[in-house]
Amino acid sequence: MQAPSPVRVGVLGAGNVGGALARLLVDDTAAIEARTGLRLELARLAVRDLSRRRPLALPPGCLTDDAGSVVTDSGVDIVVEAIGGVEPARTLILEALKAGKPVVTANKELLADAGAELFEAAAAAGVDLLFEAAVAGAIPLIRPLRESLAGERITRIMGIVNGTTNYILTRMAEGGATYGDALSEAQELGYAERDPTADVEGFDAAAKAAILASIAFGQTVVAGDVHREGISAVTADDIAFAHRLGYVVKLLAIAEQDEPEGEVAVRVHPAMIPSTHPLAAVRDSFNAVFIEGDAVGELMLYGRGAGGRPTASAVLGDVLDAAHNLRAGGPGRAPALARSQVRPMPELTSQYYVTMEVEDRPGVLAAVAGAFAEEGVSIRSMEQVGLGDEARMVFITHTALERAMQQCLERLRRLDAVETVGGLIRVIEDD
Ligand SMILES: NC(=O)c1ccc[n+]([C@@H]2O[C@H](COP(=O)([O-])OP(=O)(O)OC[C@H]3O[C@@H](n4cnc5c(N)ncnc54)[C@H](OP(=O)(O)O)[C@@H]3O)[C@@H](O)[C@H]2O)c1
Repeated sequence: MQAPSPVRVGVLGAGNVGGALARLLVDDTAAIEARTGLRLELARLAVRDLSRRRPLALPPGCLTDDAGSVVTDSGVDIVVEAIGGVEPARTLILEALKAGKPVVTANKELLADAGAELFEAAAAAGVDLLFEAAVAGAIPLIRPLRESLAGERITRIMGIVNGTTNYILTRMAEGGATYGDALSEAQELGYAERDPTADVEGFDAAAKAAILASIAFGQTVVAGDVHREGISAVTADDIAFAHRLGYVVKLLAIAEQDEPEGEVAVRVHPAMIPSTHPLAAVRDSFNAVFIEGDAVGELMLYGRGAGGRPTASAVLGDVLDAAHNLRAGGPGRAPALARSQVRPMPELTSQYYVTMEVEDRPGVLAAVAGAFAEEGVSIRSMEQVGLGDEARMVFITHTALERAMQQCLERLRRLDAVETVGGLIRVIEDD
């Protein structure tokens, strides 16, 4: 019997992800075929710098610095985009789709920016656009949301979707490190970039939150719709205080949908969660996504959110899916996205942790409590620690409107007795 012809894969980018995928395609061809019945072949590999040494045994003519030639190559059946960033990735993906080739990408930044345009182009061309690795790296998340949970009314998704910040917060909680020391350690270990802004200020998590909300709720949510705060203002004192009260501080991406209005609320910010919550046990650079739905109840998916090989494994799964669909003669299920209805952050509610340094003299507590009362924010607990002439006050509030809490902070900052108002951390209780 004649062996089936291979499915030829063109990979754009040979960095952490593209390089690891190319290695899997070159080294594991036979094993992949034995497991799946599909023979994949690395047909072309595009890079920016041809002179860079690559520890890969590539077939002659495979490597190129002309990514455009890969997407239009008639010898390429499926295109994998692993370059990153918006351009030229966007143009290359659109060209590949126009040429009728399924595309697999791990590019959260691009999908959170131009996802709707790309999904439309894929639908118009009648081919797959798959992106399992774009959110939470190796964790199967997009496919379960799109397929296994397709009929479920998802009410909330809460995820630890950035490994760098989870590593930093873990070191602060368990090693007593300051934010600066934990960040330096993460940089030394290669968990954080030299410029860590995208991770520590929540931009990376916000892009992933937008993609998750789009898929879970069927709306075109873009990164700009996501309220975003990072972890750079979280102090060792905040974390120690949270610990004493039975909480853990995590950077969470949270996407919720209201019934019956259908409005979605999507945000990324540090949050205190009870130490008994399953997400509290997610340590170091691991990721996890906690999904709540009407019928399914609570689900949690856990694993490696980044790293070349784990991410390449998720990309390979998509390549096999696309290859299977090519053989079957049509694309798989595509997301149907309606226009987004996003509820703005000031209209959301939460409990809050807030700290402030105040003058340690009579009457200050009354003035501070008055500021909370003026805005209708009710105090659940208060603790005061003396610091010489000053004192640190720590409050946890009952559930309040975000707008009221922000106005309360403004009021507190204007009080003569208040030196500084520290970071605000939302407190999430188990339902
Ligand atoms: N790294 C992770 O753990 C991870 C996890 C999940 C998702 N992702 C996503 O995966 C994508 C790739 O990330 P990465 O970490 O692999 O990036 P990377 O290590 O920086 O690799 C980028 C690759 O793209 C190549 N490249 C850049 N511009 C090019 C161009 N114009 N034409 C052809 N090739 C070009 C580079 O070529 P040279 O080698 O010649 O410089 C390099 O091989 C990003 O979208 C990222 O968000 C990454």
